[in-house]
Amino acid sequence: MNQKDNNTEKTAQDSSAEVHEIEKAESAAKQKDSSDDDGKKEDNKVKSGKKEQKKESNDQNTELEKFFTDAIQDIYYAEAAIEQSLAKIKSKATSEELQEAIEDHELVTKKQILRLEKVFKHLGEEPKKKKCDAIDGILKEVDEMVKSTKDGSMTRDVAIIIGAQKVEHYEIATYGGLLQIAITLGYDKIADLLETTLDEEEETDHLLTEIAEEHVNFEAKEE
Ligand SMILES: [Fe+2]
Ligand SMILES: [Fe+2]
Repeated sequence: MNQKDNNTEKTAQDSSAEVHEIEKAESAAKQKDSSDDDGKKEDNKVKSGKKEQKKESNDQNTELEKFFTDAIQDIYYAEAAIEQSLAKIKSKATSEELQEAIEDHELVTKKQILRLEKVFKHLGEEPKKKKCDAIDGILKEVDEMVKSTKDGSMTRDVAIIIGAQKVEHYEIATYGGLLQIAITLGYDKIADLLETTLDEEEETDHLLTEIAEEHVNFEAKEE
């Protein structure tokens, strides 16, 4: 090995040692960060605990809290409108499978309405509906789509499934957002209630996809 090689090797060793030092420093910094994060999480827990106490004493003030209550009134209106629409549509489905799925979701929707009434209770508010233009528009469209298909046809079921999925996706977006706000505000019990409903909406959406993909779409194609 000549001198130059020796130097190169030394430099390589030096930089490897430097890298090692940097890695050690980074890992120590990360550990510090994560313990700082834990500290922040604890702080947040304490803060959210305070919020829940505040809520239980019915002292509602912040803009976000007001926004949240408004949004609950909005989805409370929407669920009632959806329940009526499902009751109307179930007898219009052609396949028994879709009829049953809609009947089941009508029952689930009734439970979701009661669950929202529990949310109002936790908020210390009387259940109140706030007109939701979005759901009125979607349900109007569902109605028109169903009317545009023939009674007893599988294309009718295709229309009902697509319409129902538009409704489900609206609900999934709403409950998903509200759940995150409830968590942020430290409303743990409300978050649990909203999560149960969100899971039900997602399950319904998947079931409708299955019914469409397994046979309804293919049978409609043969008409
Ligand atoms: Fe719902
Ligand atoms: Fe739903």
